[in-house]
Amino acid sequence: MPNTIASLSIKPLHPHIGALVNGVDLTQQLSEVVFAQIRAAFNQFSVLVFRNQAINDEQQVGFSRRFNALEEVSFSIAAQNPYVYHLSNVDDRGHLLGPNEKKRVFLKVNSRWHTDSSFKPIPAMASILSGRKIPSHEPANTEFASMRVGYASLPPERRKMLRGLVAIHHYGYSLGLFGDGGVPLAEIDSLPPSQHPLLRVHPETGETSLFVSGHIESIVGMPVKEGRELVNELIAWCTRQEYVYSHSWEQDDLVMWDNRCTLHRAAVIPEREIRRVHRTTVMGEGSIEEPSSETTL
Ligand code: OGA
Ligand code: MN
Repeated sequence: MPNTIASLSIKPLHPHIGALVNGVDLTQQLSEVVFAQIRAAFNQFSVLVFRNQAINDEQQVGFSRRFNALEEVSFSIAAQNPYVYHLSNVDDRGHLLGPNEKKRVFLKVNSRWHTDSSFKPIPAMASILSGRKIPSHEPANTEFASMRVGYASLPPERRKMLRGLVAIHHYGYSLGLFGDGGVPLAEIDSLPPSQHPLLRVHPETGETSLFVSGHIESIVGMPVKEGRELVNELIAWCTRQEYVYSHSWEQDDLVMWDNRCTLHRAAVIPEREIRRVHRTTVMGEGSIEEPSSETTL
């Protein structure tokens, strides 16, 4: 019987990030004790994978709300339910997107390493992605890397140099690299740039991590080019191949990740088969806490 402490099993998927959770049925209400184990595993492993979860939007919202309140979807074209972001490679009539269709821009933005909602004044805690239509032949992996491990493996001198730096995150910037996606300008303007420290403390584990993202436009007080080079260097550092967990999707997988300390990207955009995933986004708990000087070094 699923959803008991006895049925629950949590097994690491990779030496640095990710665990597979078995013995739970997320379409059902979870008890406090089982949910507490899942939350603890989430804080420990940063990415959790649940297989065979044939969940609907309402059930997904219900599970997601156990963590915290949900963010509303930023763009009207992606939301039927205000809390569920529908991401797919099809147009409104259900046909595969052509190479020049505007909606394709969202897929391209997701194919750069990023962390979700880093461009908001309070960045997201978690994203919960449900595989509603997964291609059976074409791969469509999502890749994950830990910014905590990235930070921990930096030489002390480099960590010291990063202390006190502040990044400017801006969705208009990352979207603008590819086009406007058909998003009305007023909606893009409703997401002005946000500033966050480049180092942060995880509010639940107390561990320090980098906080970099493809949404970073510049670093405060640095020439734009230099700031972007620094961000690219740090992202490349966190995402060295042996540090990356690549999730190979199966139909009805549900994958959740910790936006406070991980990077992710869509590794490929399927061209011939439909892929549709639904995302709920759990709000962060407040502004980001920077490490004190003792924990930084
Ligand atoms: C997202 C995202 C990647 C993917 O939903 O935030 O980046 O593989 N998705 O769909
Ligand atoms: Mn994303």
